[in-house]
Amino acid sequence: MSVTLPGGVHVATDAEAVAAAVAAWLQTRIARGRAAPPRFSIALSGGSTPGVLFDHLAGRAAERAFDWPSWEVFYSDERACPPDDARSNHHLASTRLLSRVPIDPARVHRVEAERSDLDAAAGEYSQLLAATLPPGPAGAPRLDVILLGLGENGHTASLFPGDPVLEVTDRWAARSRADYEPYERVTLTLPALNAGGAVAFLVTGAGKRQAFADVAAGTAPAARVRPADGELHWFLDSAAAATLS
Ligand code: 6PG
Repeated sequence: MSVTLPGGVHVATDAEAVAAAVAAWLQTRIARGRAAPPRFSIALSGGSTPGVLFDHLAGRAAERAFDWPSWEVFYSDERACPPDDARSNHHLASTRLLSRVPIDPARVHRVEAERSDLDAAAGEYSQLLAATLPPGPAGAPRLDVILLGLGENGHTASLFPGDPVLEVTDRWAARSRADYEPYERVTLTLPALNAGGAVAFLVTGAGKRQAFADVAAGTAPAARVRPADGELHWFLDSAAAATLS
């Protein structure tokens, strides 16, 4: 039985081609969001998939079309570990992208997930989002672009099946719990994800067949990411796309 994903589906041959397609799409989003002064707000995802995208973008550091000085960087989620820990999403982004492109470090907002009081760290991140970004139509802070991955159990960001954080409506970032190490997390909440101007899932490899099915059935946490008046896109490689049929 073939699976239909909500939103636009873009298929490229392999991870590098997916990275190139996402980069081209980001350029269209950057060109559209011409605020004054220019600002392009983006939440980066974690896990293993984004690394290829980060490397691709870092290889284009000199291209003015990416308007790097306008980028304001946030995170879709973070693991409860120090920022220099290899498991940290900020560590991944810093080593593979942020240290290699001319983004102002003052415009990179990591989650202080190394703190013992994770609720406080999440609460302060929620306040930072609200103080830094314009409100979306439902009042949640609006990011221009949100990058997300898809876990094999249908989680996205750090919104895992059965976690009460899935029902949070009055905060934009919150503490959550994963079902693999590091268990403790901070994640953007569904209201924050659904306030995004454009949400892009990046999914590669053949391992997400059941996750896709659960998204299409509406049972996965990732199925609840439906931007209120933003765009939803899926960037897949051919191996991932093959599992849709
Ligand atoms: C994380 C990610 C998580 C990830 C998915 C997919 O912090 O782990 O935010 O949501 O995107 O688990 O991970 P892969 O890209 O490694 O398949």
